[in-house]
Amino acid sequence: MVRMLEKILAALLYILPVYVANATPVPFSRILKKTTPIDGRRFAWDGRRILGDGKTWEGLFSGIAGGTLIGVILYLAGNLGGFRSISEPIILSMGAMIGDIFGSFLKRRIGLKRGDPAPGLDQLGFLIIALIISAAIYGVPDWFNPVSLACILVITAILHLSTNFIAYLLKLKDRPY
Ligand code: CTP
Ligand code: MG
Repeated sequence: MVRMLEKILAALLYILPVYVANATPVPFSRILKKTTPIDGRRFAWDGRRILGDGKTWEGLFSGIAGGTLIGVILYLAGNLGGFRSISEPIILSMGAMIGDIFGSFLKRRIGLKRGDPAPGLDQLGFLIIALIISAAIYGVPDWFNPVSLACILVITAILHLSTNFIAYLLKLKDRPY
């Protein structure tokens, strides 16, 4: 039981750069007067936006920078995240942003507008893609087992829903999800 809790804690520290990368664009894009959509406001073959206005270059770079910063802090503080290399939190942050962008791409393809909810995909897509990319590069992390994975997925979904609601109350987001 204690070993299991240790693994879940290790997993949460490991994915902290993913969380920070995913959260940073919300306040960062809000304080900027002007943001630039990654898709250049272009449309896909289906007549819908490729990604939509919710995916901006400013958000992308701030997310990678924020996730990398927390990862480097964890690394310097005795490698609390258990990273195999200092580059791993950078890959995790980039993976989070790739997953998030890919999620928006899928949402637009099924006809959901920017900001429309896609239960499951919105809360977990960015994490799953980040974990797959980092595992492909560095191998499966030490904390990994089906139970610890299931725990962090549940914890992430709850955290994502609650932090988005707080961001809405703070008027950082227009919608509570
Ligand atoms: N954001 C950004 N750039 C990114 C990711 C996020 O500017 N690469 C900002 C946007 O202001 C976005 C907010 O963070 O509205 C919340 O992100 P998210 O929920 O992923 O975007 P949505 O607006 O819900 O759009 P989508 O339907 O495409 O997910
Ligand atoms: Mg959203």
